Amino acid sequence: MSQPGRITIRPMMETDLDAVLAIEQASFSSPWKKDHFRHELEAAHSFPLVGLLDGKLAGYVCLMSLFEEAQILDIAVDPAWRGQGVALQLMEQAISLALEKGAEVLALEVRTSSIPAITLYERLGFSRTGIRPRYYDGKEDALLMEKTLNRVEI
Ligand SMILES: CC(C)(COP(=O)(O)OP(=O)(O)OC[C@H]1O[C@@H](n2cnc3c(N)ncnc32)[C@H](O)[C@@H]1OP(=O)(O)O)[C@@H](O)C(=O)NCCC(=O)NCCS
Repeated sequence: MSQPGRITIRPMMETDLDAVLAIEQASFSSPWKKDHFRHELEAAHSFPLVGLLDGKLAGYVCLMSLFEEAQILDIAVDPAWRGQGVALQLMEQAISLALEKGAEVLALEVRTSSIPAITLYERLGFSRTGIRPRYYDGKEDALLMEKTLNRVEI
């Protein structure tokens, strides 16, 4: 029986971008372009992280944290490495980082069809706060979710 892989989380680097882009393209119908990720690497209030499974880049999360509000802008895990806890650890690290940067609330938008992502966010204590109709490509609704960040949790 194979052992569960060892997951480590670290800041995203320029040299990660090809692997990140491949996961992005495998995960979304309207994927971010390389320049989006470059912007996240350079912007003062952006904190992109990658998750490594046994040393291999398996997923990433893009966090923006500005004063009291933080946002998850993007998260994906390589389809071949899903279901092994990579996203959970990426999100836990993003939550800690947002708290460290002084955020009081962490918000995100998710396609209403993304059941794995919605389940992940609810497991982490996010609540549903609204719907943005036909937000994705003028077709699919976005579900708005938020988590109040509580200092006693860290
Ligand atoms: C959503 C996503 C990031 C989850 O990544 P993952 O590494 O497979 O998730 P994890 O293994 O860390 O799972 C953590 C929790 O998420 C939930 N979850 C993950 N996959 C799920 C699935 N297929 N169905 C239901 N819940 C799921 C569960 O609560 C799970 O905890 P559990 O295993 O103890 O039940 C991944 O499916 C993905 O990249 N999807 C495509 C991109 C996407 O939709 N991103 C979100 C945009 S807002």
